[in-house]
Amino acid sequence: MIKLHDLYFKSFISEQEVDTAVQRMVDEIANDLQDEVPVFVGILNGSFMFVSDFVKKYPKPCEVTFIKLASYEGLKSSEDIQRLIGLTQDLSGRKVVILEDIIDSGNTLEAIHRIFENEMVDELKIATLFYKPEAYKKDYKLHYIGLEIPNKFIVGYGLDYNGLGRDLPAIYQLKTTQHMTNLVLFGPPGAGKGTQANFLKEKYNLIHISTGDVFRFNIKNETALGMLAKSFMDKGELVPDQVTIDMLNAEVEKNADAKGFIFDGFPRTNAQAEALDQLMEDKDSQINAMIALEVDDEVLVERLLERGKTSGRKDDADESIIRNRITEYYKKTAILKDYYAAQDKYYGVDGVGSINEITERLNNVIDKL
Ligand code: IMP
Ligand code: MG
Repeated sequence: MIKLHDLYFKSFISEQEVDTAVQRMVDEIANDLQDEVPVFVGILNGSFMFVSDFVKKYPKPCEVTFIKLASYEGLKSSEDIQRLIGLTQDLSGRKVVILEDIIDSGNTLEAIHRIFENEMVDELKIATLFYKPEAYKKDYKLHYIGLEIPNKFIVGYGLDYNGLGRDLPAIYQLKTTQHMTNLVLFGPPGAGKGTQANFLKEKYNLIHISTGDVFRFNIKNETALGMLAKSFMDKGELVPDQVTIDMLNAEVEKNADAKGFIFDGFPRTNAQAEALDQLMEDKDSQINAMIALEVDDEVLVERLLERGKTSGRKDDADESIIRNRITEYYKKTAILKDYYAAQDKYYGVDGVGSINEITERLNNVIDKL
């Protein structure tokens, strides 16, 4: 992933794939032109790298020249195309191949056709390394196309975003979701997970997704997924991971503009962690950290017994039940700790101290992500 100005881009087309596409175009064009000496006309600035690689590969004599047009500002194609440097030599009777880095709306191509209208060239062919069929609004024929790509903004290999990115040897694509902070929050019962999740939510503008709440919400509101989940629970079976993931996906989609998510109560298994990674990847994002609040067993027991006195929760009143829940927690989360540690995303945070102290420790971890 790279950042140019304010935007994030992800790897899209490798140097090798670009090279293969350029070579294929060279082969086709050289084959079609036979023994004519063509004039290749590069469209500046974007095509400089493509033209350079193209003519180096071109197996026969050729001429190269450039024209410079300007049509783009930032991420948007503009109708208003200016000719900054036009043709500086007579091309009448010549076989001309336009070398474009990318054809998007086709506005630039229209301007090129206008420039060549009165040039009396023998033949005018259009070759573009990248082509966005969904964006193309003209009907000029494109004779040679390197790679068709979806209608998303790209940078690299000559293409820029506000001046940056032209020097990159490979192609990067604008991320659909920009930078998010996605956390998986863990903590044994009594660690203060709920309290801390509330602070994090506020401070970082995150959406707290508690799997238990999501389940209860879907079942209570009788959503299709809720009914599906309930049908398994009624039979005494575990709800399949895919159903849970679909519910979480719906939550993520409901909050498409969020700065990030706190996942609480999920994942619980390796398979679920993998499914969550996949879900994040589908959103052009990722889990940034698994944060586990670490609290000594004796402190937990003490805290829960104390809570039990006032909360009336039965499972908080009995010490052996409490110890069991804590043991269960460590048994279940050990694999997940390994899973995220392997990706360098595991952060254990000391959960003993005042609420403020613990919040401070969490902030220190998150601010560095
Ligand atoms: P068109 O006139 O809309 O076809 O756009 C052509 C010009 O817009 C190209 O020569 C580029 O300079 C620029 N352009 C179009 N799409 C992109 C992109 O995805 N990244 C960077 N520049 C682009
Ligand atoms: Mg261009």
